[in-house]
Amino acid sequence: MIEKIKEHLSEVEAFQSLDSKEIESFRVKYAGKKGLLNDFFAAFRDVPADQKKEFGQVLNTLKNGVNDKVKNLQAQIQNQGGKQLIPDPTRTPFPIPSGNRHPLSIVKNRIIDIFTQIGFTVSEGPEIEDDWHNFSALNLPEYHPARDMQDTFFVQTNPDILLRTHTSSVQVRYMEKNQPPIRTISPGRVFRNEAISARAHCIFHQIEGLYIAKEVSFIDLKQTLEYFTASLFGNSKIRLRPSYFPFTEPSAEVDIYWGLETETDYRITKGTGWLEIMGCGMVDPNVLKNCGIDPDEYSGFAFGMGIERIAMLLYQISDIRLFFENDIRFLKQFKGTL
Ligand code: DAH
Repeated sequence: MIEKIKEHLSEVEAFQSLDSKEIESFRVKYAGKKGLLNDFFAAFRDVPADQKKEFGQVLNTLKNGVNDKVKNLQAQIQNQGGKQLIPDPTRTPFPIPSGNRHPLSIVKNRIIDIFTQIGFTVSEGPEIEDDWHNFSALNLPEYHPARDMQDTFFVQTNPDILLRTHTSSVQVRYMEKNQPPIRTISPGRVFRNEAISARAHCIFHQIEGLYIAKEVSFIDLKQTLEYFTASLFGNSKIRLRPSYFPFTEPSAEVDIYWGLETETDYRITKGTGWLEIMGCGMVDPNVLKNCGIDPDEYSGFAFGMGIERIAMLLYQISDIRLFFENDIRFLKQFKGTL
């Protein structure tokens, strides 16, 4: 009898399966109500007394072997099932909506790209400015009537400190620190004490351009602007209208030919086909002097444009306030543009 139990012992040890049905019939065969273990335990009574000890030991080993085997195999099956619950790293992720850049950033970056391609660097300055950098150095001394062209937010406790009204303040800071040749553009936020409407906002953005070297002429300015408008609008037909800015002489406003094909074209160009996009001119010698650059040796041009205005033209947006409301339905339309 002991020999028989030992045979079962090696059978139990050798048993392998990951099929739960097979494991269950294995369990029933040994540990079920009518299973072999119960038969062996029943036979224990008739075992001669001198063999009872050995018989008992071998039988217990068999019983434990069966229990351990069943437990192990069932655990293995469960582990395998558990593994299937770990996400498969190769599967397509469930769609997470991704954001996109703000239209003003898209346009700003595009303009920066265009100018850096022809050697311009990017420079920045503070939004809280002093009178010198925003006005006086730019040929706008105190009480100059042209200061009224830009309604200013002053810091009440100190009339010398203000929120910059234009990014032209950055060209002053740049010239104070760098000698020619200078080629730089300065994007940034500017502030004007103006009522908010569909066409104007008290906070908006500009990009300033500055080029100072030997023998820079108006021709260089015009060619640079033609390159710029061709790159951004795909249309280099521009015209320069005489204008006035205190910091440039002569000064001009730049119009781009928009065309008169649709009703909208008539509306936004007021029936002329032309659209104003920026101010520009030859840097006034007084400004160069104020910034420590010798006007007898160097000359240069400057220009300034509103980023909102350019973005409104490019995307046909009729209300400037949309840029600042952060309505997700508006913002997500610019995904993948430009
Ligand atoms: N600063 C002017 C403005 O805010 C824009 C401008 C005009 C900038 C002519 C220039 C320039 O550099 O030459 O309206």
